[in-house]
Amino acid sequence: MEAVLAVEGLTKIFKTKGRADTVAVDHVSFSLMPGECLGIIGESGSGKTTLVNMVTRLLAPTEGCIFLDGQEITGLKGRELREAWRRMQMVFQSPAESFDPRRTLGDGIGESLRNAGAGREETKRETARLLKACGLTPEYAGRYPHEVSGGQCQRAAIARALAIKPKLLICDEATSSLDVTVQQEIIELLGRLRRKQDGLAILFISHDIALVQQFCDRVLVMYRGRIVEQGKPDDVIRDPQDPYTKKLIESIL
Ligand SMILES: Nc1ncnc2c1ncn2[C@@H]1O[C@H](COP(=O)(O)OP(=O)(O)OP(=O)(O)O)[C@@H](O)[C@H]1O
Ligand SMILES: [Mg+2]
Repeated sequence: MEAVLAVEGLTKIFKTKGRADTVAVDHVSFSLMPGECLGIIGESGSGKTTLVNMVTRLLAPTEGCIFLDGQEITGLKGRELREAWRRMQMVFQSPAESFDPRRTLGDGIGESLRNAGAGREETKRETARLLKACGLTPEYAGRYPHEVSGGQCQRAAIARALAIKPKLLICDEATSSLDVTVQQEIIELLGRLRRKQDGLAILFISHDIALVQQFCDRVLVMYRGRIVEQGKPDDVIRDPQDPYTKKLIESIL
């Protein structure tokens, strides 16, 4: 079986005038198989967001390669890059910011469907179906981002991300801004969607080790831009090998 995502030696060095260079991500390599959910944990500033921003090509890597479905996407541009973007979608921390405040949630969800060639009726029908699958009624299609709660907006963001049936879903602190009950609901929703869309691979970035333990098949621990440990979440939490992981886990238990 081929990995949905593989990164090799991925590195990002931020160079800012008058300041020392920041090595935000330092030769990171890992792969993600179809249907797998991989968690990434690590303290604030350890390079998690920089890493996924390179995977989605929002940031150019300083060094290293990215493969999506076996195709190298590190240097893609234009039409080919847009085509790669159709296979991976992101859900961010602040749901409201991921929607245009002047457009309805339904417009936001329908956009990628229309871009993929769906007509008006089909877009409407599919948007309603996606909203329902994400625990909202079709009525939410007519609402603006400021007219819904954070949890509802995150459900709509997930509906939008899944609209074009990506192979890879990247969640960067997607539940961090929500309260514990809503967090749990979103995790259950992601779990259901994962079972429904066979083969959907998820990269799940979180500060919350307990959530990662509950939701992920495997976890990477990042420290200062590097992967210091990886394994099954239960094993890593029960018996961390790396001194930094030990500290990280002690700090939350
Ligand atoms: N555009 C940038 N220019 C310069 N330095 C940056 C830039 N973006 C991030 N950094 C630095 O890179 C390092 C990694 O940041 P990153 O946002 O990837 O961390 P993170 O693990 O996602 O943290 P958090 O858990 O707080 O979201 C930090 O030291 C940060 O200050
Ligand atoms: Mg981050």
